[in-house]
Amino acid sequence: MATIIDGKKIAAEVRAELKEKTEKMVAETKRRPALAVILVGEDPASQVYVRNKAKACEEIGIASEVVTLAADITQEMLEFIIKSYAARVDIDGILVQMPLPKGLDGEKALACIPAEKDVDAFHPENVGHIMRGDYRFLPCTPAGVMELLHRYGISPAGKKCVVIGRSDIVGKPMAMMLLHENGTVEICHSKTPNLAEETRTADILVAAVGRPKFVTADMVKEGAVVIDVGINRDENGKLCGDVDFENVEPKASFITPVPGGVGPMTVAMLMQNTFTAAENNMSTNRG
Ligand code: GUN
Repeated sequence: MATIIDGKKIAAEVRAELKEKTEKMVAETKRRPALAVILVGEDPASQVYVRNKAKACEEIGIASEVVTLAADITQEMLEFIIKSYAARVDIDGILVQMPLPKGLDGEKALACIPAEKDVDAFHPENVGHIMRGDYRFLPCTPAGVMELLHRYGISPAGKKCVVIGRSDIVGKPMAMMLLHENGTVEICHSKTPNLAEETRTADILVAAVGRPKFVTADMVKEGAVVIDVGINRDENGKLCGDVDFENVEPKASFITPVPGGVGPMTVAMLMQNTFTAAENNMSTNRG
């Protein structure tokens, strides 16, 4: 029987701590952290994510501006709008919800966000910091995973960590963060031969594949810590992760559920990054 890692509870704790810190900041500086969230088009999943981000801001006391733009906006106009938020001294963080509708260039749009307002940690300069371990902003999802590990007293030090998935947003930064905490890290992906043989060596297994119930019980070592980053729909349309929870849970020592595991942590860490951006901005510009 595994301990079920309660991401909903930990995320609420992180938000409560940030609320307290934000109230103190506002009292001391008379300024409130502010996040601009730019949503292009009407993708229902993106709309839900953006709503959750705005809700978290409100709970903590971070000002948020949600900018909704039509799917047929031109690249030039989108970049102009992002740059107008970049230029505003009262805006600490900017986030462009991904993916953008067809015809728009996400890379070019993201390049309009200056590194110091890049609360997603997508900017090449921030990616460089992640590589070196001298973080300014932590990428939200892997940072959420690390926070869960810390708060459950699980250290990657001396452990074999296997990450399945090599995306720029999750897999790669996740591996770096585990490495910086002295894990011995392996990154697996769709072209890894004998994947199950590799994943069975993991003391900490992170699944970031994007395929429903991809990680089966035979891929998991007895007593492993299993972290599920996936958000998918199963054959019945029910929300599920990358891990076959029902069959893997009895073998694991700790496991994150979907929903209620890593998901809520991503937004909590975005709030943390926005607070950090405000601290930096106030010490350099607004203070
Ligand atoms: N779409 C899915 N995940 C993310 C994320 O972490 N940040 C942004 N901006 N868009 C996303």
